[in-house]
Amino acid sequence: MNNIDLSVQVGSLKFRNPILLASGTVGYGNEMSEFLDLNKIGGIVTKSLSLKPRKGNPPQRIVETPSGMLNAIGLANVGVEVFLKEKIPFLKKYDVPLICNIAASSVEEYVECTRILTEEETIKAFEINVSCPNVKEGGLQFGNDINAVGKITEKVKAVTNKPVIIKLSPNVSYISDFAKVVKEEGGDAVSAINTLVGTAFDIYTRKPKIKNVTGGLSGPAIKPVALAKVLEIRQKVKIPIIGIGGIMNWKDIIEFMIAGSSAIQIGTLNFINPAAAIEMLKSLEQYCVANKIENISQLTGSYRI
Ligand SMILES: Cc1cc2nc3c(=O)[nH]c(=O)nc-3n(C[C@H](O)[C@H](O)[C@H](O)COP(=O)(O)O)c2cc1C
Repeated sequence: MNNIDLSVQVGSLKFRNPILLASGTVGYGNEMSEFLDLNKIGGIVTKSLSLKPRKGNPPQRIVETPSGMLNAIGLANVGVEVFLKEKIPFLKKYDVPLICNIAASSVEEYVECTRILTEEETIKAFEINVSCPNVKEGGLQFGNDINAVGKITEKVKAVTNKPVIIKLSPNVSYISDFAKVVKEEGGDAVSAINTLVGTAFDIYTRKPKIKNVTGGLSGPAIKPVALAKVLEIRQKVKIPIIGIGGIMNWKDIIEFMIAGSSAIQIGTLNFINPAAAIEMLKSLEQYCVANKIENISQLTGSYRI
């Protein structure tokens, strides 16, 4: 086989290939290491971390839906302190870029988490999950409030010199307006998309299938939406994009790159086949050979409209 370069760059971040593991679907990487060689994947994004540990929502927290799933985990996590003490030592053994995803209920908490974690050299970048309720401002999600997204970007950037990726919510009218404010406030990249709000009912009990009533829809059902959001950002704002949403095979990765993604993340697929990230690499290489592409990054934004 020809020498195909699968490496990609997202701003100043370099990955050996475009496949990253999405937040919330691989914990802190330890369980995944039984199924795949973490040294071969592009990068790992941790479960959302908050300042203090969180138990999350009561069950039922997950339900399968046609071509996807709904989840309302409620950001259950060990908190930054336990993460640094108990999870980082394991991750240090691997040569794989680690991106810490952060969740918070106030701007100050985002800043404090980032400030604490930035000291840890194993962490190469931050991904800020803005799909969290803003407790101080009545519980509306930060991700739906353009001023809040701008403020979080600005304040988080002020306490770290590591790249800051803002993970955008698709539950807005124009996602590119949010990407624009991220760029204006100094954000290094955006990842798109987080889950779409959805629900499902049991027709016999007439109760929601998820205790929280609504949950986040993920999986192949959301892929066309995610692709449209990536394309919208690509066409309106000059900022690196990490594409996420319903990626189930190598062809989906190519599609996301054509639409404008520099790298991608796989989420729901990890539950179906935890070795998928590695298994898809060969096919990406073969596609590049067949299409005379030397460096896979040439695909980014290469759509013909
Ligand atoms: C069970 C589950 C838990 C998730 N937890 C988080 C989380 O903690 N933080 C976050 O930013 N995104 C979280 N996500 C969203 C994923 O990272 C991803 O954006 C979304 O699932 C869409 O990608 P997919 O269709 O490939 O799964 C979670 C998704 C699932 C399915």
